[in-house]
Amino acid sequence: MHEAMDVDKTQNNALMWVEKYRPEKLEDLVSQNNIVETIQKYIEQGSLPHLLFYGPPGTGKTSTILAIAKQLYGKHTRNMVQELNASDDRGIDVVREQIKNFASTTSVFGMGFKLVILDEADSMTQAAQAALRRVIEKYTKNVRFCIICNYASKIIPAVQSRCTKFRFSPLQIDQIRSRLNYVIENENVNVTEDGKEAILKLSGGDMRRVLNVLQGCHLAYETIDKEAVYSCTGQPRPEDIRLILDSMSNDEFSTCVEYITGLKTARGLALSDIISLLSELILDINYPNKAKIHIMEKVAEIEYRLCNGSNEKIQLSALVSAFKLGLDMAV
Ligand SMILES: Nc1ncnc2c1ncn2[C@@H]1O[C@H](COP(=O)(O)OP(=O)(O)OP(=O)(O)O)[C@@H](O)[C@H]1O
Ligand SMILES: [Mg+2]
Repeated sequence: MHEAMDVDKTQNNALMWVEKYRPEKLEDLVSQNNIVETIQKYIEQGSLPHLLFYGPPGTGKTSTILAIAKQLYGKHTRNMVQELNASDDRGIDVVREQIKNFASTTSVFGMGFKLVILDEADSMTQAAQAALRRVIEKYTKNVRFCIICNYASKIIPAVQSRCTKFRFSPLQIDQIRSRLNYVIENENVNVTEDGKEAILKLSGGDMRRVLNVLQGCHLAYETIDKEAVYSCTGQPRPEDIRLILDSMSNDEFSTCVEYITGLKTARGLALSDIISLLSELILDINYPNKAKIHIMEKVAEIEYRLCNGSNEKIQLSALVSAFKLGLDMAV
């Protein structure tokens, strides 16, 4: 009985939900309403500018341009759109040859301009971006470019100024909730209310993360509750963070280090995740300001060192030291 169900689940999930539930039409996108409305107006007037989409992951940048392409070209999309993303070579040769070749052939369907999508353009070299600015200018008559990245600052000013910029913001919890409910219903996922809330809490406004967590938990658990979500993602539970804070405030140095080490091992937690949640809480707890300032300064340094691959054990001791010293200094 169980086996049959597992096979069924696996087949059902052969397709990644992030792809299965990629919005097909502009109307299907939750949030980013202003952006969609503005672009719709451009399309109605038949005068789409070059576009620069930027913003955090999983907020619909790639989905939006793919939906626009579909709306513009329908079944001719493959001939009218060239998509280049990070897995491709992004050197200057690609800009010079591939884009030029595509851009310089006129469209045979009499459908106006073609579209070049440069996804994850942050990873383009400066030289390739510099070459791009000439290409954009030269082919403006029959080609529109859509440049997509996480950080607009990584795109050279000359290219930025040739595009109309749209900032994609993290999705609001309510917007994510409606899409999440839709997928849960469609896939017959067995999820409890607190499981759903845990997924939303961990989303950080990233719809891709929501769908991946939901699919991962669905494969691993019969019923997705809060516990399942936290174990599946390896994220610290809010109550764990509160226990850690208690220990930092009340226990003696080595007891506190041992306690957190034990919790990390038992739950499989990463110190960087603990730190980012701790730092959200620090501002709200009733430590004296002087202590908070010292701790936050040290936490920022520890986080930076962790990003550069330093030893977790040493950094954990440094974290506890920061708390202890901060609290001592403030007395
Ligand atoms: N606004 C949205 N409405 C509905 N679904 C969304 C939205 N944004 C993202 N998604 C979902 O998340 C998945 C990832 O979205 P998308 O690829 O568009 O993100 P992105 O902004 O391009 O992220 P990245 O910067 O990581 O490339 C989509 O397949 C879709 O299922
Ligand atoms: Mg993308």
